[in-house]
Amino acid sequence: MANAPKSFDDLLIILSKEIIEIKADPASFNLSTTGTTSAIQSYISQVATTAEYENARVKLLGKHGVITTGFADLGNLPPKIRPAVGEQRKELVAAIEAPIGAAQKKLQASGLEARLNSESVDVTLPVREAPFEIGRVHPITQVFDEVTTIFADMGFSVAEGPDIETDDYNFTKLNFPEDHPARDMQDTFFFNPKPDGSRLLLRTHTSPVQVRTMLSQKPPIRIICPGRTYRSDSDQTHTPMFHQVEGLVVDKGSHLGHLKWILEEFCKAFFEVGRVKMRFRPSFFPFTEPSLEVDIQCRREKGEVRFGDGDDWMEILGCGMVHPNVLRNCGIDPDEFQGFAWGMGIDRIAMLKYGMADLRAFFEADIRWLSHYGFRPLDWPTLAAGLSA
Ligand code: DAH
Repeated sequence: MANAPKSFDDLLIILSKEIIEIKADPASFNLSTTGTTSAIQSYISQVATTAEYENARVKLLGKHGVITTGFADLGNLPPKIRPAVGEQRKELVAAIEAPIGAAQKKLQASGLEARLNSESVDVTLPVREAPFEIGRVHPITQVFDEVTTIFADMGFSVAEGPDIETDDYNFTKLNFPEDHPARDMQDTFFFNPKPDGSRLLLRTHTSPVQVRTMLSQKPPIRIICPGRTYRSDSDQTHTPMFHQVEGLVVDKGSHLGHLKWILEEFCKAFFEVGRVKMRFRPSFFPFTEPSLEVDIQCRREKGEVRFGDGDDWMEILGCGMVHPNVLRNCGIDPDEFQGFAWGMGIDRIAMLKYGMADLRAFFEADIRWLSHYGFRPLDWPTLAAGLSA
């Protein structure tokens, strides 16, 4: 070529001139022999960036591109040459569209490859939690569920009672004589007296649920009662509202040996240890005779408590054989049936198992505390899969 094009824009100028020549005399013009089309084709096939590609496409085939504007007046040409010009235009467009399409594919593929090379997925990173997994189960709820799971496996059912109780169910029916000093051991929140002199109160323990159950159900009875309890008390290990779980068995042959076995099995399952050593100490509760307090063997290590071995003891619950007066008060003949019962602090065993130091934090609703000590909502405790797994 006499004047070899220096750039793509030069090629465009040559092409627009050629289009004018085509429109003047289509029969005498042959696109393929001018070399312009193949020069454009080879330019397009070498473009390396999306910007270059886009520029070439727009300047050739875009609304204001050389080919589009060059043939815009096709309809005004003399009818004699119009079909031949149209034919030429078609060939030109086809010759340009092919390399444009190929260039686009090439750029897309190399773009994808570049992304794949630059981005990487670290499969060892933890999976982000789904929104419904972000909430946390409070340790109290978790321990309720764990305790219920263990006793359900032994054939116990869950009984419930109200937080606001009568003096009668909280004390009198449980063999606390009127004005007996034993009532003072439980710093009770009383409501104002009613006109008849009776007073409602916030239950100080879950034991009134024993009364409610025995009054409404004939033996054999096998229940646990987890719930809220209240005493006017507040320090690092006491809060005015706390939680207990009560257990009650009433049957013809119930005896202390059964109680001991149940508590031992419970402690092993709850603390998730193969063996526990327990110590039963004589104690006093108005509603049991004999009454016992139970310690379990533990080891204290750097402020943490470990169960299963060691030479320390930790008190975890109170228990005993249900006092004949209580059975009688609840319409059960103590000459026919015997019962045993126990009660323990849920908060206390939660603190022991999961190592929280201050009980008050349980009730402060601090989201950071909860996300640290809380449990994942879909990890329901089961004996088979592990309670706290
Ligand atoms: N109610 C007792 C308390 O709150 C705990 C308790 C002790 C419950 C012995 C019982 C029991 O059922 O037999 O201190």
